Amino acid sequence: MTTRDFAFQDNELCCESVQLSTIAERYGTPVYVYSAAGILNRCRTFEASFGNVPHLTCYAIKANANRHILRLIAREGLGADVGSRGELFLALEAGFRPETVTFSGVGKRDDEIAYALERDIHAFNVESVEELDVLDQVAGRLGCTGSILLRVNLDIDAGGHAYVSTSLKENKFGVPHQRAIEVLRYAGSLPHIVVRGIHSHIGSQIVKPEVFRQAATAMASLVVNLRQAGIPVEELDFGGGYGVQYRGYVTHPDLPAEKPEATAEPATMVATVLPILTTTGCRISIQPGRSIVAQAGALVISVLYRKETGHKTFIITDGGMNDLIRPSLYHSFHQIVPVHLRGELHEHVDVVGPVCESGDFFAQDRMLPLVRRGDMLAVMCAGAYGFVLSSNYNARPRVAEVLVDGFTHTVIRERETVEQL
Ligand code: LLP
Repeated sequence: MTTRDFAFQDNELCCESVQLSTIAERYGTPVYVYSAAGILNRCRTFEASFGNVPHLTCYAIKANANRHILRLIAREGLGADVGSRGELFLALEAGFRPETVTFSGVGKRDDEIAYALERDIHAFNVESVEELDVLDQVAGRLGCTGSILLRVNLDIDAGGHAYVSTSLKENKFGVPHQRAIEVLRYAGSLPHIVVRGIHSHIGSQIVKPEVFRQAATAMASLVVNLRQAGIPVEELDFGGGYGVQYRGYVTHPDLPAEKPEATAEPATMVATVLPILTTTGCRISIQPGRSIVAQAGALVISVLYRKETGHKTFIITDGGMNDLIRPSLYHSFHQIVPVHLRGELHEHVDVVGPVCESGDFFAQDRMLPLVRRGDMLAVMCAGAYGFVLSSNYNARPRVAEVLVDGFTHTVIRERETVEQL
């Protein structure tokens, strides 16, 4: 991705045309900062990668559900994939049209199903036979029908962290692909269900096009088998999971070299699977989350203390695992850089937070330019699964979010106060 949402201008890290130090001084730290252009460009890249192929790109709202960011994405004409009543509420409020909204997830409550039916969303991505029965009953009660895509579990290893792999047979997601004919036949017999097609989502932060190719091939042959069994299939929802580059996202001669991981651009991933999926003649949809917002966001934190134990050097910051849990939860790598570079020597450090847990770290054994109390650091590529996964653990108020657009910056979520806890 060539968008310079974040880049050094001389020695100052900027988001578009605004220095991150300006934002930190104005709004305090920790603070999430997002680039509007970065988000929009990624939406456009996805759309362009489909060429003339009829499709629907549903942004997976769970990645970043800030209302202002949702509005930006809705205005681009994308659809939305929601995973709860709350997400559906936010999607519709932000301007996503109901006919472009899909509802995913293994545990939809009856009231959530009713809420979505009343709003006439495009489709439910159904994950079990029992869910089909409940959807049929709730729709019957409301005097309407619910359109469904059956989520199939392809038993494919998407690689990456076990917590974000969703398509192995031991995972809770979808119904085994071998049972798709039987389950869809049953769905077709239910009076208030309209079968539209099938859905897969094999995992997240997938960096190998080969894995997507394997899943696309499995989905395309399943469509053939279903049709042979007399089951109509008009739509194929291929889910999300497109991986992004986390390492070495910003560069500067004063920074330690960080070799980017081998990952294909989301557009390349789409180009890989599209020729396979289009053989089915189905309308194709996808549900990217991370690849729209991850790189367009950073978490800016301040150094509170340096602590040298004789064994290690700890950089203790005002940001913690409650603000960004990805390193603690998945051992995820986030590039960390000083927002102002002074040409300092590099040292090996652990960058940690103030929370009372040893798992409260952003980086371990990381090479960083020397930083002191009061310096600010940017934790890069934190726009996806960052703020949305934050909590009030240790009674820490949730942080502010700021959106940058060119030279302007706007608070899009106020910092919580202790009184609000
Ligand atoms: N569709 C469904 C049904 C999903 O469950 C997800 C993500 C997506 C689409 C979007 O996937 P993406 O394009 O963002 O990979 N918290 C973890 C990631 C969890 C992903 C959950 N499902 C992390 O921070 O790595």
